[in-house]
Amino acid sequence: MQMPLWVQQIREDMDAALSRDPAARNRVEVFLTYPGLHALIAYRAAHALDARGIRLPARLISHFARMLTGIEIHPSARIGHGLFIDHGMGVVIGETAVIGDRCHLLQGVTLGGTSTRREKRHPTLHDDVLVGAGAKIIGAVTVGSGARIGAGSVVVQSVPPGATVVGVPGHIIAYAHHGNETVERLPDPEWDRMEALENRIAELEARLAAATREIDVPRPRA
Ligand SMILES: CC(C)(COP(=O)(O)OP(=O)(O)OC[C@H]1O[C@@H](n2cnc3c(N)ncnc32)[C@H](O)[C@@H]1OP(=O)(O)O)[C@@H](O)C(=O)NCCC(=O)NCCS
Repeated sequence: MQMPLWVQQIREDMDAALSRDPAARNRVEVFLTYPGLHALIAYRAAHALDARGIRLPARLISHFARMLTGIEIHPSARIGHGLFIDHGMGVVIGETAVIGDRCHLLQGVTLGGTSTRREKRHPTLHDDVLVGAGAKIIGAVTVGSGARIGAGSVVVQSVPPGATVVGVPGHIIAYAHHGNETVERLPDPEWDRMEALENRIAELEARLAAATREIDVPRPRA
């Protein structure tokens, strides 16, 4: 007999915690003690109501889940299979946010909006995205499959698939090719400027040293 969809989704969410958290021991423990899972179960119920136009009860479920878990997920957000919200406290997922399959969010992550208009104003995360603790992704930007956002980063521009982004504002430090394990560094505009300045200082020092040598050379007496 086939499992109801909601049971299947809860199992996938539990398995996501088991496969990604080395501290997780079994499904019973995950089911009873993981606030990320509790928030997702409440979200999936709220989302089903929201999709049928039953909006206030949906908001209430999401509000109580937030009180219980510290994780705020708007019922209209769209979340795929196997999301793992690790620790969870302080996570905010906005109304028009979209999250693909098998994503991993740590505590304090914000998928927030920048516009006050009723439009797509929150991020879209494709499949297998990792967002580190405290990272903020704001605006209707897209984070490509397999991208990793470092803890504490602030991302305001779209991120290509497989990229690793760190810093404020976020910049790409590495890129993992799909289909193989090679990782290469991408140009980093801040680093490029620092390197150019270092080269320029080295060149000026060399010219200064040459000029000083010229002045110091004793001139033959006439
Ligand atoms: C971004 C991340 C995925 C990169 O992991 P990684 O590929 O193993 O990268 P490394 O640790 O080798 O770091 C690569 C470079 O990025 C820097 N870096 C890594 N994470 C960073 C961050 N969050 N902010 C700023 N710089 C960071 C490192 O210092 C290193 O710099 P260097 O090359 O000049 O030495 C990881 O660092 C991260 O932030 N993961 C989230 C973890 C988290 O939130 N844990 C909380 C658990 S409760």
